[in-house]
Amino acid sequence: MTSWPVVGMLPDLLKNINGIHDYAAEVLRNFGGTIEVKGPAAYCLANLDFVVTSDPANVQHILSTNFANYNKGPEFKTVFEPLGDGIFSSDFDSWKLQKKMFQSLIGHNKHFNLFMHKTIQQKVAHALIPVLDHVAKSAIQVELQDVFQRLTFDIVCLLVLGIDPVTLSVDFPKVEYQKAFDVLEEIILQRHVLPESFWKLQRWLQIGGERKLRKAWKVFDDFLYQSITSKRQQFINRSKNIQEDEIANFDMLTAYMEEEEKQGQVGLFRNSDKFLRDTAFNFIGAGRDTVGACLTWFFWLVGSNPIVETKILQEMKENLPTRNDQNCAVFCPKELNNLVYLHAALCETLRLYPPVPINHKASVEADTLPSGHRLKPKNRVLLSFYSMGRMEEIWGKDCLEFKPERWINSNGGGIVYVPPYKFTAFNAGPRTCLGKDISFIQVKVIATAILLNYRLKIVEKHPISPSNSIVLHMKHGLMVRISKRSY
Ligand code: HEM
Repeated sequence: MTSWPVVGMLPDLLKNINGIHDYAAEVLRNFGGTIEVKGPAAYCLANLDFVVTSDPANVQHILSTNFANYNKGPEFKTVFEPLGDGIFSSDFDSWKLQKKMFQSLIGHNKHFNLFMHKTIQQKVAHALIPVLDHVAKSAIQVELQDVFQRLTFDIVCLLVLGIDPVTLSVDFPKVEYQKAFDVLEEIILQRHVLPESFWKLQRWLQIGGERKLRKAWKVFDDFLYQSITSKRQQFINRSKNIQEDEIANFDMLTAYMEEEEKQGQVGLFRNSDKFLRDTAFNFIGAGRDTVGACLTWFFWLVGSNPIVETKILQEMKENLPTRNDQNCAVFCPKELNNLVYLHAALCETLRLYPPVPINHKASVEADTLPSGHRLKPKNRVLLSFYSMGRMEEIWGKDCLEFKPERWINSNGGGIVYVPPYKFTAFNAGPRTCLGKDISFIQVKVIATAILLNYRLKIVEKHPISPSNSIVLHMKHGLMVRISKRSY
């Protein structure tokens, strides 16, 4: 990577903006795991300086040991503007409070957990299976990433808003607000690499990507505010006479509205529709794309490695209860606990293709990283999780190979523990992903249902590469043919 006079490293960055994650992995390999990226020298374009690292010692330092010195920073809020004041862009007390609220929801709320399990299983049985049956019967190709994005979007909307947008059905409806979400992600990644003054000028003039972002943002917000309004109405009616089946449909908005009722107009709830909008937006973002991306890369890796597929199938046959009707082989989360090899294959997928490929931090005070790199106050730091999964120093010479076996104990009994500052797919330290368990549950229910019921054949010559988005989608999707598995 060359630092040119005046323009700094900007030309190299722009030249490699397509394929930015692989480019970062290569540069970091050549620079020993950490690099200082110099932006243009001209003052008006100066905000492009940052440090990128994939060094586990630096990652542990930033995410754990010296956590207090690294926050998301005001710049994160500016770049990730549509997140509002939700958990992802909050620091300090607001973050602590939002984290506590979500932990108490998933940790202690029996109704929410039951609702979550029921929702995942029902959407697999009544939306995914009919769509895949249809594709298999019609002998057509299908874009699997789109199927997963639709499925996980419907699931997360049900869990968060209590609304099923039914984006996954045999006619693959065009859903404007679902597409709007993709646009938001794409433009936010562009904001990471373009000079701040450039995209801010675009925003001010409402041209280019910024115009697209504004439009998509409005579409998605309209959907969210409508959902909140109708949920409020339901909530008012519901509190008069709670029915058993309503408790069984206990979504996140309902839980937060209950909390709001208890606390009144204080703290986070002071401007409550905005708080609920930010919360919903953050959780839909957290839950849809990450899980959808994980499933897409998993099926591509498994489909390209027949030996791994055979081992997963063998393990499922040995461990899962027999269903009388193989057509509805949808299992409940408890039944999937013993699938160690499947778990290993998922960890291996997340290592090579972490759905969140970069994490964005800023130093509060000046600091020196364990690698010796010095940071000024408010220095931006990007942690390249994508590069970390491809480092020989962590994973050995075969780091680019898909080998679930590396995750299995030598006695064959369980999963090898890899510290989170080395296996960073779910982040590390106090800001570790709060949805890790939910994600594994969801992915396992979906993956087992597909693998047991269908054979997937990846369409040859279809290009496969990661997208330039803040979530690691497949740029051209995953085309497959599907047939029913016969027993
Ligand atoms: C395979 C799926 C997933 C992966 C790989 C993943 C990964 C991550 C990562 C890397 C972060 C740190 C982001 C940052 O600090 O900027 C994070 C945070 C978070 N995740 Fe996940 N996530 C997944 C699924 C989910 C799901 C399904 C939920 C909830 C429904 C969820 C909820 C959260 C929340 C609330 C945070 C913020 C934690 C905090 O800042 O304290 N995630 N996740």
